[in-house]
Amino acid sequence: MENAIQPKTIPLVPSHKIPVHGVGLLKNPLKAISKMIDSYGDIFNLKLAKDSNIIFVNHPDYVKHILKDKQENYSRGKAVKQSSITGLHEFLGNGIFMSDDEDWEAQHKLLKGLFSVTAIESTLPIIEDELAKLMAKWTNLIKHNSTVETEEEMLLMMMRIMLRTQVSNELSFDYKAIFDALTGRVEASSVKALFRYQLKAFTLKPLGINYKYTKHQEYLVTLNAIADKLVSGLINEEYKPSGLFAIMLADYKLQRTTRTDIRDQFMNFVFAAFDTTATAITWTLYHLAAFPNVQQQINQELAASIEKDPDAHISNRQLPLLQLLFKETLRLYPPVWSYAREAAEDDVINGYPIPAKSIVVISSYALHRHPAFWASGDNFDLSNFEKDNFKGKTFAYIPFGQGKRMCVGRALAEYQMQIIVEGILQQFQLETISKKKPEINANIIIKGTESVRLKLTKK
Ligand code: HEM
Repeated sequence: MENAIQPKTIPLVPSHKIPVHGVGLLKNPLKAISKMIDSYGDIFNLKLAKDSNIIFVNHPDYVKHILKDKQENYSRGKAVKQSSITGLHEFLGNGIFMSDDEDWEAQHKLLKGLFSVTAIESTLPIIEDELAKLMAKWTNLIKHNSTVETEEEMLLMMMRIMLRTQVSNELSFDYKAIFDALTGRVEASSVKALFRYQLKAFTLKPLGINYKYTKHQEYLVTLNAIADKLVSGLINEEYKPSGLFAIMLADYKLQRTTRTDIRDQFMNFVFAAFDTTATAITWTLYHLAAFPNVQQQINQELAASIEKDPDAHISNRQLPLLQLLFKETLRLYPPVWSYAREAAEDDVINGYPIPAKSIVVISSYALHRHPAFWASGDNFDLSNFEKDNFKGKTFAYIPFGQGKRMCVGRALAEYQMQIIVEGILQQFQLETISKKKPEINANIIIKGTESVRLKLTKK
C-alpha cells in the first residue's frame, strides 16, 4: 500500500517564523502547537538546525503508524535523551520511562505485577485513609472559607498515596520538600525550559558566550539526596517496603537489580505516577462544578447504585455517566499532552519521508480537539464517548498512549480516580468560582495557568 502513495514533502516552518513560534512555545506550548497546526497542517517540520528534524504530526493514521504499526522504529528513551538538553534523562536515569528495547522489556516485565487487579486493590486502605483525611480537612476548612485549592490538594494527596503504596507505608516523608523539588525539577525539564534554553543559547552565541543551563541541577541534588536515603534504608532493610520498592528489593537480593536501578525507578515513579492522576481528578472535579446538571445526574446515578446494592464498595459500582465524564475530561485535558519519539531508521508516513534520527512529536491536546474528528472541538460534550460516536476514533484519543509503551499505570489511575471522585461527591457539592473557563498551560502536565480552585458546600 505504502508504494502506491506518491512521495510528498513535509511542510517546513519558514526559518523567519521560527523565533515567533519559539516565543509562542515558551509562553504556552499548547496554544503554539495548535497555531502551527492551523498554519502548516497535520504534519510539519520545525527545523532548528541543518541536520535536525522535529516533525509534528496530528492525524490519527500517523499516530497509529508511530505508536503501534511501526512502533519498533520509534523509541521514546532515545527521543527524550536527544531533545533533553535540560537533562530529563539525568533525572530519570534509565528507568522504565526512559529505556528502550530489551532493557525496557525487562523492566516492564518486572513492574507489570504492580498493576495486577490484586496489587491495585491492595492499595485501597491507603487511598481510603488519605481520602478520609482530606475530607476531614476540607470539612473543617470550609467552615471559614468555602474555596478550596483543589489542584494543590489533589497533587499533595496523590503524592502521599504514591509514596505510601509504592515506597513504604512505615516512613514519614517530608512530602512538601519532595513536592517542591520535584515540581522545580519537572518545570526545569519542560518544553518551555527547553526552548528558553535554546533561544538564550542562540542569542548569546554570536557574542561568544557559551550559555549552559544549570537550574535543573539544583533540584536534582535535593531529589538525589532523598532517593539515596530511601534506597540505603531499603537495602539495609530499615523499613518494610511496599509496591515498587518491595519488588525492587526482591530483585536486588537476586542480584538482578542495582542501587542505581532502584534510584532510577523511584524517580520514574515520582515523575509519572501521581501528578498525572491528580491533574485528571482536578479537571474532573472542575467539570462537575462547571456543569451542575452533569453533577446532579452523576449524584443520582451514584445514589441509585447505592440503593440497589448498599454493600458494594465504591470501586465496584457501575457508573456509566461518571465513566463518560472521565473520558471527556481526559479528551479536553490529557495530563500527558505531548509524546516524543526518535525514528531509528528512515521511514515513510503516508508518503511523507521521515529521516532517521528525526524527533517526532504528537500533541494529544491538539489531536483530541482536531475538528475533523471531534465536532465538539474545545467544548465539553459527554456524548463524544457514547458507543456509536466513538467508533473508529481509537487513535484520535490517546490520553494513556497506545502500543506497547502505553501507560503501565492506567488501571491503577482509573481505580484511584473512581474512588476519589465518588468519595468527594458523596460529601460535597461543587461549584466554580468564576463562570470563565480556566486558562490552561503546560509544562510536562496540563495545568491551569492559575491553580484550579473550587467552591465546596458540605452535603
Ligand atoms: C490519569 C493518569 C495518568 C495518565 C493520563 C497517564 C498517561 C501516560 C501516558 C500518555 C504515557 C505514555 C507516554 C508516551 O507514550 O510517551 C504514560 C506512561 C507511563 N505511565 Fe502513566 N499516566 C497516568 C497515571 C499513571 C500512574 C498512576 C502510574 C504508575 C503508578 C503511571 C506510570 C507510567 C509509566 C511507568 C509509564 C511509562 C511506561 C512505559 O514506557 O512502559 N502512570 N502514562
